[in-house]
Amino acid sequence: MAKPPGKARFVVHPPATIAGIRDAARATARVLQELSRQVQPGVTTLMLDQLAGQLIRSQGGESAFLGYHGYPGQVCISVNEEVVHGIGCADRVLAPGDLVGLDVGVRLKGCIGDSAATICAGGRPAPVAARLLNTTREALDAAITAARCGVDVCEIGKAVEKVVKAAGFSVVRDFVGHGCGRDLHEPPEVPNFTTPARGVILQPGMVLAIEPMVNAGGWRVTVDRGDGWTVRTADGSLSAHFEHMVLITEGEAEVLTCPKTPSE
Ligand code: MF3
Ligand code: CO
Repeated sequence: MAKPPGKARFVVHPPATIAGIRDAARATARVLQELSRQVQPGVTTLMLDQLAGQLIRSQGGESAFLGYHGYPGQVCISVNEEVVHGIGCADRVLAPGDLVGLDVGVRLKGCIGDSAATICAGGRPAPVAARLLNTTREALDAAITAARCGVDVCEIGKAVEKVVKAAGFSVVRDFVGHGCGRDLHEPPEVPNFTTPARGVILQPGMVLAIEPMVNAGGWRVTVDRGDGWTVRTADGSLSAHFEHMVLITEGEAEVLTCPKTPSE
């Protein structure tokens, strides 16, 4: 059946737009890399947010999150049992061993970059935290490997879930990855769990933000009633989040949120 106009199910970007998305994605990766270095005990999450704003501007961009549906931060900073969308706060002082999720979105010349990583404050994570970080990174790697042209987008979620289940952790189901490029959120949705085939076949020129959120305990989450944003694990268990933007090509997907250009 024909889809109603304006209801695209996915976006294939022309080469000129892909060039712009590359620049935005690289700027995002640089901000995330520098911000990650500042995740230290004693630093407040508000300091990280303010620093992120400076780093984003020094790349010539602006925050893609600030003001998005009223979001009040420059970036999202989610500590320990916070899953995503945490807001920088002056009285949240990082302690050694805290797991700090940083999610950065940059708008640069009309294109968007979006990338996230989870970092342990002050060196070594506790054993379960270390396993959670490794598993979530591995799940993202498996998802990127699965993101090949010609396959249904549901293969990405299957790949994530397989890695996470094998480790005995669980995948958040209430939030998903997404197409990304001219807008922060473009179709299609990119679930991190097994779904029926969605009828979206990956093709060159699509750009996806793949972002597994993995809980050490159960998959259920709650949204903070006070701020309306902060997502936490329902059982208080630790959570980790990694996100890359990838370009679908004829061969392997190309990770766009790398701090360096391919030739560097
Ligand atoms: N990376 C997240 C996402 O893709 C961050 C959005 S935060 C928001 O949804 F504040 F902008 F909503
Ligand atoms: Co995203």
